[in-house]
Amino acid sequence: MAAEAAPFKVSSLSGKVALVTGASSGIGASTSILFAKLGVKLALNGRDVENLTKTAKQCKDAGQHEPLLVPGDLTDEDTVKKTIEKTIAHYGRLDVLVNSAGILVMGSIETTNMEQYDRVMNTNVSPGVIITEVHKRAGLDEEQYAKFLEKCKETHALGRPGEVDEVAQAIAFLSSDAASFITGVNLPVDGGRHAMCPR
Ligand SMILES: NC(=O)c1ccc[n+]([C@@H]2O[C@H](COP(=O)([O-])OP(=O)(O)OC[C@H]3O[C@@H](n4cnc5c(N)ncnc54)[C@H](OP(=O)(O)O)[C@@H]3O)[C@@H](O)[C@H]2O)c1
Repeated sequence: MAAEAAPFKVSSLSGKVALVTGASSGIGASTSILFAKLGVKLALNGRDVENLTKTAKQCKDAGQHEPLLVPGDLTDEDTVKKTIEKTIAHYGRLDVLVNSAGILVMGSIETTNMEQYDRVMNTNVSPGVIITEVHKRAGLDEEQYAKFLEKCKETHALGRPGEVDEVAQAIAFLSSDAASFITGVNLPVDGGRHAMCPR
């Protein structure tokens, strides 16, 4: 008789409470929708309330719970504190924090100033190149972005940039009991970019 397959432990996320920052766009939005499918109770942060509401609707359609919206700018310490407090007041606890809020500033060590450095360090996370709005928001026009994505075929060992869902799946794994003996690890989700020669 065939042994019964053990359930994949990512399903342990069901019923957990997660706060996702950057939920109004890109990786954070995709992670929120995947978490909703996995039965997670969500608190969603971003600054653009219209986009945040769109993500919340997609989460509600995909899952069983109505997400809590906790919009605000996370470079403001008081907003960070209130975001956590509102989440805990609403759900009574907080199990998972997905910190996907972030910005990108174009430039090198020679051309970046302290204001740009501080602005980035006040917010960010770092995967390989993932197709989202972040590069265009940092100033690339459509033509420059198309060239940049073409170049990604050389800078990533897998010969392509990543999709938001590929990061969301890794986040779901790390947040679940499937990763129960993993602590404080840096997990590159970057199509092998870290193993390639720089630029
Ligand atoms: N995609 C890539 O290739 C790539 C590469 C390197 C690093 N990353 C990092 O990955 C993370 C996710 O990026 P993404 O590609 O998903 O970018 P994205 O589509 O531009 O989304 C960025 C998110 O961060 C939020 N955000 C930015 N500044 C914020 C602030 N001060 N307070 C609150 N929310 C803020 C934005 O909210 P609003 O739109 O509502 O303002 C948005 O939801 C970021 O940390 C980014 O730097 C991405």
